[in-house]
Amino acid sequence: MTFQEQILQGIPDVLPQPQPYDPTINHAPKRKQILSIEEKKLALRNALRYFDKKHHAELAPEFMEELNTYGRIYMYRFRPTYRMYARPISEYPGKSEQAKAIMLMIQNNLDYAVAQHPHELITYGGNGAVFQNWAQYVLTMKYLAEMTDEQTLVMYSGHPMGLFPSHPDAPRVVVTNGMMIPNYSKPDDWERFNALGVTQYGQMTAGSYMYIGPQGIVHGTTITVLNAGRKISKSGEDLSGKLFVTSGLGGMSGAQPKAGDIAGCITVCAEVNLKAVETRHSQGWVDEVIANLDELVTRVRKAKENKEVVSIAFHGNVVDVWERFYDENIYIDLGSDQTSLHNPWAGGYYPAGWSFEESQRMMAENPTQFREKVQESLRRHAAAINRHTAKGTYFVDYGNAFLLEASRAGADIMAEDGINFRYPSYVQDILGPMCFDYGFGPFRWVCASGKPEDLDTTDAIATQVLEEMALTAPDEIRQQMEDNIRWIKSAKQNKLVVGSQARILYADAEGRMKIADAFNDAIAAGKIGPIVLGRDHHDVSGTDSPYRETSNIYDGSRFTADMAIHNVIGDSFRGATWVSIHNGGGVGWGEVINGGFGMVLDGSDASRRRLKSMLFWDVNNGISRRSWARNEGAVFAIKRAMETQPLLKVTIPNYVDDSILEGL
Ligand SMILES: NC(=O)c1ccc[n+]([C@@H]2O[C@H](COP(=O)([O-])OP(=O)(O)OC[C@H]3O[C@@H](n4cnc5c(N)ncnc54)[C@H](O)[C@@H]3O)[C@@H](O)[C@H]2O)c1
Repeated sequence: MTFQEQILQGIPDVLPQPQPYDPTINHAPKRKQILSIEEKKLALRNALRYFDKKHHAELAPEFMEELNTYGRIYMYRFRPTYRMYARPISEYPGKSEQAKAIMLMIQNNLDYAVAQHPHELITYGGNGAVFQNWAQYVLTMKYLAEMTDEQTLVMYSGHPMGLFPSHPDAPRVVVTNGMMIPNYSKPDDWERFNALGVTQYGQMTAGSYMYIGPQGIVHGTTITVLNAGRKISKSGEDLSGKLFVTSGLGGMSGAQPKAGDIAGCITVCAEVNLKAVETRHSQGWVDEVIANLDELVTRVRKAKENKEVVSIAFHGNVVDVWERFYDENIYIDLGSDQTSLHNPWAGGYYPAGWSFEESQRMMAENPTQFREKVQESLRRHAAAINRHTAKGTYFVDYGNAFLLEASRAGADIMAEDGINFRYPSYVQDILGPMCFDYGFGPFRWVCASGKPEDLDTTDAIATQVLEEMALTAPDEIRQQMEDNIRWIKSAKQNKLVVGSQARILYADAEGRMKIADAFNDAIAAGKIGPIVLGRDHHDVSGTDSPYRETSNIYDGSRFTADMAIHNVIGDSFRGATWVSIHNGGGVGWGEVINGGFGMVLDGSDASRRRLKSMLFWDVNNGISRRSWARNEGAVFAIKRAMETQPLLKVTIPNYVDDSILEGL
């Protein structure tokens, strides 16, 4: 059967053969057994409803075994046998070009070269799911192949509810992931309801089909490391010879060594999972691998002496690195952490003193002990960082809930006021005030033709647009413009493409609209094929997350989620091709609401109308909220936006002279 026929077949009438468990693939950790026997039966009833009754007797014991072994029903048997990757758009069956583009994006999120646990449909972050099981995948692809531009596909946490009549300007797909009644948003609720098969953790760009491999995050991480370097620079010197210590070589964290190399420092990145170390090393994302602490100490001393630009993966626990470097008096200039602490109890954080395998066993067999060991390790971890920062190390939380979980573990991590943390988040100090408040965020695009030449052409178009804009850019955003121009010019040479022909480029509202408009012209002129625009949810407007994206909101509203909800509603009626809204992203289930969009450009006038309307809103919504919170950069940016668009009228805050509040 051809690829197209398999897609159109949907759930097969004749059961495919069971597929053996492939040990060479990086698999999701076994999830803890949380369901009672009655609940397990409910999970089975839920799973079997995808299949004709005649198959139930055969599938029921198989699914039960998956549930008992892995804690979830993935329906491995239905994993397609064709190669999983983003094909050129012309190879997808279908009646709607927009729907075909979405199929391409879904397959990219599940590509073995891209996805963290491809057989469990997890793209990144340990639990960032595209679907809960393979039946959902197969059914969704069939719907997409059948639908027209008069229909909208409705996705409930990976489950395709169905096609509903709509109209050509409506989104082709509306996605929700993990939306819970607020009181049911604790980590164990995810375990229970995900095991039942009724919800999933979509992370940010996993369940929204917008992941573009580690490239997406390299750019943001480079900007963060570069600007952190500017913060610690005493007399304008760069990062040369300075040491950056962090952890994680997973989906996003794997970008750190590459970003460290681009920013020009020495990076030591600890990682406990050998498969992750090998993947990133073989992809060229990290230069060297060391598994012995003595060797690491010697190597780092030499790198410091020679002011080398080098990235080293340490195969081991990051806590050991922090502690040993302190004992050896190795000065760390920059410190962070990117273990997956949004998911501390199910494989996101591995405790010091236990091997990777021991930890995996403990997690499944004795979750209570595992929890205690994680918390013990976090206390040690934070204590070691505190000893380094007392000597001058600049430490930032990398939005992975490190400070939050360390504080919950009772680590000495709170500021003197007992409310805030001792260390800033990278958004509070860097990305918020320098980027988001001005509208700069992780704009991205994918060339749906699959042609590398198209990507080269789009790089050149984007460079030209930004260079023209830089000529008249105000001082407030000049540095950002220059960093982004430098990035796009060297993007190709940094060999960042893994999976689809994609590019990330931080840009503000004006930049995003002008670049998109120029792409649309190039498509109309036949110079390139269709383009899919999108962004990370980790952006100006898409995400309400009090300890990350909105951590530099200080008017009390950072615990509200109106912005993210407005954003997705607003995008959906202004022309997005698909929209998504999720509970839980990088920082954890119940800790964040985040949304995003995808938009297909085909060179038409309709595309031009949609991109202008939607991108303007998509950025300025967040700027207006940041401005109302009295963030100065955002007040500047929204006033500038109002000058360019007379239909925009935003309420501007009046500043209060604090002296009148004294004594009240
Ligand atoms: N890169 C970014 O710009 C960015 C931005 C915001 C948030 N984050 C957050 O960073 C975290 C990491 O994301 P990811 O996609 O890389 O997740 P991931 O799960 O793919 O990778 C985390 C890695 O950390 C390793 N690890 C866990 N405990 C360890 C320990 N004690 N010592 C050494 N290694 C350990 C794991 O084996 C895993 O490979 C997430 O919480 C994510 O939300 C990243």
